[in-house]
Amino acid sequence: MGMIGIIGYGNMGGAFCRGLSKMGTAFAVSERKADRAAALEAEQGRKSLFLKDLAAQCDILILAVKPQEAPPLLDELAGLAAGKRFISLMAGTPISSISSRLKKAPVCRFMPNLAALAGRAAVGVSFAEGADARFREECLAVARAVGEPFEIPERLMAAFTGLSGSGIAFVFAFLHALAMGGVATGIKYEESLRIALTVAEGAVAALRSTGFHPVELLSQVASPAGTTIKGLDRLERSGFGGIVMGAVEDASARAQELER
Ligand SMILES: NC(=O)c1ccc[n+]([C@@H]2O[C@H](COP(=O)([O-])OP(=O)(O)OC[C@H]3O[C@@H](n4cnc5c(N)ncnc54)[C@H](OP(=O)(O)O)[C@@H]3O)[C@@H](O)[C@H]2O)c1
Repeated sequence: MGMIGIIGYGNMGGAFCRGLSKMGTAFAVSERKADRAAALEAEQGRKSLFLKDLAAQCDILILAVKPQEAPPLLDELAGLAAGKRFISLMAGTPISSISSRLKKAPVCRFMPNLAALAGRAAVGVSFAEGADARFREECLAVARAVGEPFEIPERLMAAFTGLSGSGIAFVFAFLHALAMGGVATGIKYEESLRIALTVAEGAVAALRSTGFHPVELLSQVASPAGTTIKGLDRLERSGFGGIVMGAVEDASARAQELER
């Protein structure tokens, strides 16, 4: 793979640095904020480069800045884009709008989620039509630095944002509520949360290792007139399934509104 340049050492830029570093992939970083550049030096033992030096050294540039910071950055990159390939992490920013400002350079779009901090993100990956095979492979390898890539057509990016980018927050909300249920029934919050996390990890592991549908495993836990069916009955009466589906739909609709 070519040399990777990361623009922006924030939450996501930092996660990609750690992931690429673990993979042993060569990379360099440009960060304009002094405190973040100092953090880069302390955490990664490398200095922030000026954008033009980063562009000169690197083949693939990852745009890890907030979408509102894009216009001046893309103006600056336009003159440096020849022969470069780009990966954009910017939410709501279509491939075509980036590529057109970068002299039609190849652009791939990622939608990671916060689990990138732990190297476990679900990463939505979209390419423009006709993207070449080598670029596709490189981008998928970069995505693996922070988790698991899911290649999707760009028209599904808003859906992916609702399910994964925002969905991780719904999982946090559920885990907090589960832990609070433990508190309500007599367990201290810290311990209850630790138990809830173990339950969640166990549930994912059981699904993955058996390959069963969630409803098949749920039916095995819920014995007739037992404890679990009582709780499931409460969830169903409260519209749990519809509420969660609606949360994904609302988040996705908002992501679509913000697309520009
Ligand atoms: N965080 C998430 O969970 C998440 C999930 C999915 C997608 N994303 C996307 O990932 C991107 C990065 O998000 P983030 O949370 O990592 O943002 P962040 O923490 O704000 O980090 C961005 C960093 O880049 C710096 N920067 C901006 N323009 C620059 C330039 N021209 N040259 C060098 N450095 C520059 C920023 O400095 P200033 O503060 O001075 O601007 C900031 O330190 C965003 O586009 C976001 O939509 C984030």
